[in-house]
Amino acid sequence: MKAKQFIENKTASIKKTVGGGSAISALSGGVDSSCCTVLAARALGRKLKVIFIDDGLMREKEPQAVKKIFAKLGIRVHVVNYRKRFFAALKGKTDPEAKRRVFRNTFYKVFGKEVIKSGAQFLIQGTIAADIIETKGGVKTQHNILEQIGIDPEKGYGFKVVEPVKELFKPAVRVVAKELGLPEQIYNRMPFPGPGLMTRVVGEVTPGRVALVRKATRIVEEEVASLKPFQAFAVLLHDKGTGVEKGKRKFGEIVIIRSVESKDAMTANPTNIPFNILMKISKRITVEIPSVTRVVYEVTPKPPATIEYI
Ligand code: XMP
Repeated sequence: MKAKQFIENKTASIKKTVGGGSAISALSGGVDSSCCTVLAARALGRKLKVIFIDDGLMREKEPQAVKKIFAKLGIRVHVVNYRKRFFAALKGKTDPEAKRRVFRNTFYKVFGKEVIKSGAQFLIQGTIAADIIETKGGVKTQHNILEQIGIDPEKGYGFKVVEPVKELFKPAVRVVAKELGLPEQIYNRMPFPGPGLMTRVVGEVTPGRVALVRKATRIVEEEVASLKPFQAFAVLLHDKGTGVEKGKRKFGEIVIIRSVESKDAMTANPTNIPFNILMKISKRITVEIPSVTRVVYEVTPKPPATIEYI
C-alpha cells in the first residue's frame, strides 16, 4: 500500500461523499479513529466537528491527553461527558454480549444526539478490517459495526457512516497515521477497544470496578513498556480469592495481567514477560490497590482465547 496515494484517494472520496454537507468524527484517541479524524479534517476542514465521547471507560487522563495532541495538529476536539449515561445503561448487566450491545446502543444514541445537535449528516468512524471480519464471523459484537450486520444507521440513528480505513489492517493504519503527521505516541499506540475498559471488567461494569481496572492497567502498562508488547493491560474478574492481611483473612479481587504479541490481532501469543517484572506488577497492584488479593498472569494464545475478556 502506498500511504501517500491512499491519503490522496481517501481525502478525495470523503470530500465527494460529504459534498455540501458536514460531518462529525468519533475520536477515541486510538490509532484508527485518529487516522480517520486527520483524513477527514484534511478533506473537510471546518465542515468537520471532532467529538470525543467521555464514556467513563477510558484509561487515565485520556480525554485531556487526546485533546492536547490534536490541538498541536490544529484540530479542535470537543470532549462531551456521558459517563453517567453509560454507567446507568450498563447497570446490572453481566453477560458479555449484552454489555457490548448496551454499549453500542448507548454509543450510537449519544452520538446520534451529538450529530443532530451539530447538524451533520455524516459520522466518520475508525472501523478497520479485523473489526468487520470478527463481527461478521460471530466472534463478538464490535461497537462500530452496523451496516455490516444489517442495521441501517440512517434509519436507526439518523446519520450515514463513513469508514475511511475499513479495508486496512492495523499495521497499514499505522503507516498511514505516520504519513499523516500524527505523533509516535498515536501511530505506535497499543490497540484499545472502542468499549474501553468495559472489555476488561468481567461481570457488572460499575464506576468503582472500572476505577480499579484503570489503576491496574496503568501499572501493567508502565511495567511492561520497555518490552513494547502488542497489547498489555489488566482485567478484573468477577470471582474473588482469599488473601491475608495483618493476620486477618480477606476475600479480595482477582486481577489478571494480559500481555500479547500479535501482528493483526487475529491471532496472538502471550508475551514472554521476565519473572521479576511479573513480580513487580503483582506487588504494585496489591500494594496500590489494597482490595486486590491475587494477581495472575495469563498464558493463553488466541485462539482459543480472545485478546480481551468479554
Ligand atoms: P479480541 O478480544 O477479539 O480483540 O481478540 C482483537 C482486537 O480488537 C480489539 N477489540 C475491539 N476494538 N471495538 C474495538 O474497537 C471492540 O468492540 C473491540 N473488541 C476487541 C482488541 O483490543 C484487540 O486489539
